[in-house]
Amino acid sequence: MNPALLNLKEYPMDFLIKTKERLKKEGKKIYDFGVGDPREPIEEFLVDNLRKYITCEAKYPTLKGLPELKEAISEFIKKRFKVDIESENIIPTYGSKEAIFHFPLVFINSFEEKRGVVFFSPAYPIYERGSLFANAKVFKIVLKEKNNFLPSFDSDIFFVDALKEKEYKKINLSKEEILKQTKIMFINYPHNPTGAGIDRKTLENLYELALKYNFILASDECYSEIYLGKEKPISLLEIAKDNNFKNIVVFNSLSKRSGFTGIRSGFVAGDKEVIRNYLKWRSSFGVAPQDFVQKVSILAWKDENHVEKRRKIFKEKYKLFKDFFERYNIKYFKSEFTFYIWIKMNKDYLNTLIENGIILQPGDFMGEGGEGYARLALVPSIEECKEAISLWKSLIEKGVLK
Ligand SMILES: Cc1ncc(COP(=O)(O)O)c(C=O)c1O
Repeated sequence: MNPALLNLKEYPMDFLIKTKERLKKEGKKIYDFGVGDPREPIEEFLVDNLRKYITCEAKYPTLKGLPELKEAISEFIKKRFKVDIESENIIPTYGSKEAIFHFPLVFINSFEEKRGVVFFSPAYPIYERGSLFANAKVFKIVLKEKNNFLPSFDSDIFFVDALKEKEYKKINLSKEEILKQTKIMFINYPHNPTGAGIDRKTLENLYELALKYNFILASDECYSEIYLGKEKPISLLEIAKDNNFKNIVVFNSLSKRSGFTGIRSGFVAGDKEVIRNYLKWRSSFGVAPQDFVQKVSILAWKDENHVEKRRKIFKEKYKLFKDFFERYNIKYFKSEFTFYIWIKMNKDYLNTLIENGIILQPGDFMGEGGEGYARLALVPSIEECKEAISLWKSLIEKGVLK
């Protein structure tokens, strides 16, 4: 068996699943803020068109992507980020998860010294998992609140060479030594789990490093359309546009924008050479979205109204919690991106909430740097958010939560 599989830790969500089952058996009402899968239904017109496009004559899907879909994605990028990008720079994907997971498998060469993958923790676990399967040297760098959870090499760095070892060790290498070995750097802004955003200057600095040390800067932007304030998240495409997107790719998805988590539709876009090689590899795997999904995705990328409606709902939920946290002096990371709130919380407090049916995800589930926090995903309905807040308040007022 592939040792990467043997060495993977148990998926931490299993703990929450078991706890929820037990609480349900005990008759507790569950408010599940633990899983990042919003329950707002998909817009009616998208579902109607999905039905329309499913035909009996279902052929193998178009691997390169339907030209009309790539045009729609390119139009979205143009409208949203003011960036011109051609269809050859884009591949539609089966959501962004598979595209991120498979990426190191294509671009890491186990026979090279330069097979490092850098990512920043706490993080979506797939950067790490894909890198381990690809026999990369994995550099996990801890994000800190004092740096607004922005990448910095002045931090704890954990390392494993997946080709040789099982366990991570803490290392003391300079930024330069790490970057010389780096083939891919994953970044993710707006950030899961902290909700942090990234500024233009930081993104420019990272891009400079990608050019200087010749690695691929891979930006996971699947939350780019979930902003709760006025400021819209920036894309790496904006930074690299005048350089033909050299050494960059971005991943995006309809999962958060349109609630397509179960339909599976996203894209990867960027450096033409990287995209061409990625497409070559993808022809061996069954990872192209079905044509009916590609067709309905065209409509979803073109329409902004349904996205604005979804944002409004997240904004309303966010405001409820923000007001509550401010009033009760609950410390959280103030940011207006994604549908996550990153709350400072000790284990006892978190366990008490969970035992009372308010399920949050322990911060350390997302890796080093998550200790002492909990992630609240704004996924239950507005009504349920109100109920959960009033339960939370009553636990504070009764002195159960301290
Ligand atoms: C940071 C991040 N990237 C990627 C994904 C994958 O999203 P999808 O495959 O649904 O596009 C998720 C899902 O929650 C995520 O949080």
